Amino acid sequence: MSFKEKIDTHRLPKHIAVIMDGNGRWAKQQGKNRIFGHTNGVRAVRETAEACAELGVQYLTVYAFSTENWNRPEMEVNALMALLVNTIDGELKTLTKNDIRLGVIGDVDSLPASVAKQLRNAIEKTAHCKRMQLTLALSYSGKAEIVRAMKQIALKVQSGEIGLHEITDDLIHRNLYTYGMPDPELLIRTSGEQRLSNFLLWQLAYAEFYFTEVFWPDFDREELYKAVYTYQNRERRFGKTSEQLHS
Ligand code: IPE
Ligand code: IPE
Ligand code: MG
Repeated sequence: MSFKEKIDTHRLPKHIAVIMDGNGRWAKQQGKNRIFGHTNGVRAVRETAEACAELGVQYLTVYAFSTENWNRPEMEVNALMALLVNTIDGELKTLTKNDIRLGVIGDVDSLPASVAKQLRNAIEKTAHCKRMQLTLALSYSGKAEIVRAMKQIALKVQSGEIGLHEITDDLIHRNLYTYGMPDPELLIRTSGEQRLSNFLLWQLAYAEFYFTEVFWPDFDREELYKAVYTYQNRERRFGKTSEQLHS
């Protein structure tokens, strides 16, 4: 039996975040170069996005490139940027067909102009799509996102536009890249690594973490269903006791 049939569609996470990791190791296992792994990771993104949209998940945010990833060998960075341009262009039809809206979080200005252009085009062309939002985290850093929010807020305090008492959880949320999205209830990381690597530090404050040994290019629909099913079997207590939740 597929994990899909075990999922309670009334208790789906609204937002799933994914750290797509293990492309390089997947390629190495087959005696290929790292780029081969990245290329094969695209299918997993498509399949995960389709599976989420079909289930009824409203937001899927995938970590595609961190600010730290700029420190990789130049050849790999260039290949990843080229892959992005081709993929965004190639997937536009599929996104529209599946009624999926594209979004981006991160320092888009630091991306090559060709990538930024394709992104803007795809975001515009899918802006009317309603079923799900697929957000790419590109040149993304959770700490940088918080620093950026702090600066925006500090400017408003400095100019007298807002007072200190107006700095709240909600105001910080409104100054993050993810403004308007609910916080992810579920974080998935592939490849066996168990760390956040600077992803959505603020937004994941109360997320359930799901780690799998599977390398990203091998991640598929069934793996996604398994993660969602596991999430549904966690008890989310938010500080309360188990007894309080059941009374
Ligand atoms: C994730 O796979 C993709 C990116 C970070 C761009 P990796 O490239 O990190 O693969 P491993 O972790 O080296 O196997
Ligand atoms: C995190 O993966 C970033 C992405 C998946 C895009 P990394 O492979 O770069 O993370 P570390 O360096 O192992 O923490
Ligand atoms: Mg990695």
